[in-house]
Amino acid sequence: MGLREDVAQVLIPADKLQARIAELGREINDAYSDNAPPLLVCVLKGAFMFLADLTRRLDVRHEVDFMEISSYGAGTTSSGVVRILLDLEQNIEGRHVLIVEDIIDSGRTLEYITRNLRTRNPASLRVCTLLSKPARRQIDVPVDWVGLEIPDEFVVGYGLDYAEEYRNLPFIGVLKEEVYRE
Ligand code: PRP
Repeated sequence: MGLREDVAQVLIPADKLQARIAELGREINDAYSDNAPPLLVCVLKGAFMFLADLTRRLDVRHEVDFMEISSYGAGTTSSGVVRILLDLEQNIEGRHVLIVEDIIDSGRTLEYITRNLRTRNPASLRVCTLLSKPARRQIDVPVDWVGLEIPDEFVVGYGLDYAEEYRNLPFIGVLKEEVYRE
């Protein structure tokens, strides 16, 4: 009950998300081949829904693995403190790694992950993020695929949470200020 009532505005409706993810899938298919199959590294928790839809758009052979990173705590802005809560199961040495993120905000999480994964000597390391908030970038990290750029609003849904809720909404929405000011 009530989750949708906490949303002030639907920023990206579900059908627009799915259309963009289909395009990203086509581009990623073209960028890899079955001879050099990618390992998709889903950055939990936020990217779980994007990974689930993206993987179903891929024809190229690939595997998935998961990493959990935390930087936000229960607040609405990044604390800048990044921790690995869950590490990859797979050894990525010599593998073509594609990091799958839900959103890049300050860039600190992605900078930490790319620096960390590079020390493990992957054959290649690329990044696909569904969303990017360029206005908030503090560290410039190269990103190979950006689904959609969004304004500096606090967004939830499609994997993104506020205090661990709202991840199940099928769209990206702007949370009413009163919800996180309470
Ligand atoms: C969010 C998001 C990114 C990161 C982006 O994760 O999924 O990983 O923050 O912010 P940054 O560019 O400022 O580092 P969060 O820490 O909220 O964890 P969650 O995905 O488990 O919700």
